[in-house]
Amino acid sequence: MVGGRPKVRADIALRSGYHSPQIDVRVRLNTNEAPTAPPAGFDAALHRALDEIQWHRYPDRSASALRRGLADRYDRSPREVFVANGSNEVLQTIMLTFGGAGRTAAVFEPTYALHSHISKTTGTEVVEGFRAEDFSLDLDEVRRVIETHEPDVLFLCSPNNPSGVVDPPDTVDAVVELMSGTDGLLVVDEAYGQFAPSSAATKIDDDVPLVVSRTFSKTWSMAAARLGYLLAPEWIVDELDKVVLPYHLDSFKQAAGLAALEFGSAMDERVALIVEERGRLLSRLQDLPVTTWESGANFFLFRADSMSGDELWQALVDRSILVRNCASWPRLEGCLRVTIGTPKENDLFLEALTEILGA
Ligand SMILES: Cc1ncc(COP(=O)(O)O)c(C=O)c1O
Repeated sequence: MVGGRPKVRADIALRSGYHSPQIDVRVRLNTNEAPTAPPAGFDAALHRALDEIQWHRYPDRSASALRRGLADRYDRSPREVFVANGSNEVLQTIMLTFGGAGRTAAVFEPTYALHSHISKTTGTEVVEGFRAEDFSLDLDEVRRVIETHEPDVLFLCSPNNPSGVVDPPDTVDAVVELMSGTDGLLVVDEAYGQFAPSSAATKIDDDVPLVVSRTFSKTWSMAAARLGYLLAPEWIVDELDKVVLPYHLDSFKQAAGLAALEFGSAMDERVALIVEERGRLLSRLQDLPVTTWESGANFFLFRADSMSGDELWQALVDRSILVRNCASWPRLEGCLRVTIGTPKENDLFLEALTEILGA
């Protein structure tokens, strides 16, 4: 008997995967990575740490030294820190723990696509609310979504990807308050938190249904390492630890994270430079026929006043500059998202944009 193909879950078979074109260009400003390699000294620190690894042994299962290092940085207990392979794995672990069949996650579009994607993969139903025209969070809309759907998990992303908009502290407080009246968990994704003026991390407490995810991919120049973390009440970290695969975080990655933490002030200086460059770019774009949005991240969104997003994206690629094309995403018609690069890369982007727009 010849069998058919094993049956993929129907909801997975119907979906398309995650797409972000990787094109070989001179200036890559499309994935919100840090524009430069880690600071001088990081390689040497990592090599020293590698010498200590016992490769025939499993890694420290609880990544205790790394959790301690992160806890020190945020002035929290190591038991309030969870670490995983990129903040995407952090989010996936949250959804495996708090989502699942018969449960619901709420997102407010436009936002980071992986919140919905990961939720659906874990069998969680996704309900969509919408941000206001200027991409700020409308608390009446949040209240409507909570009252209508009683989500088990509610995602905020601040600064939001792709708009760059930061949800101010009083807005986050209001959402915490709304979620406190339910059995649901508020997840604030702060992958770009270091570039923003405020963070929800200070609000974390045992009785507050709030967790904050962060990453080494952006500020720490370590996108290649795939390392992210969560700040959360101790009891939530305990639950996540039950769900994640044993030894999921390899020794190499733990060593890389710990080595990076030795360079905290160098990283802070880099963040300051990127924030300054973001200001420079946004102010230069004021002189061009484009609409821009204020951003608290290492990227911003813009739209040409009289050219389609697809055309502008292609014209930039033709000049060997890659930005993210969001033009066909819901509610982002014509928009492109550009990551802040090195000053040189930013100049090349500005030159190309000025030339294309004939300004
Ligand atoms: C908002 C947001 N959250 C999470 C991530 C995932 O980051 P990581 O590299 O830590 O998995 C990204 C990556 O672009 C992001 O934009």
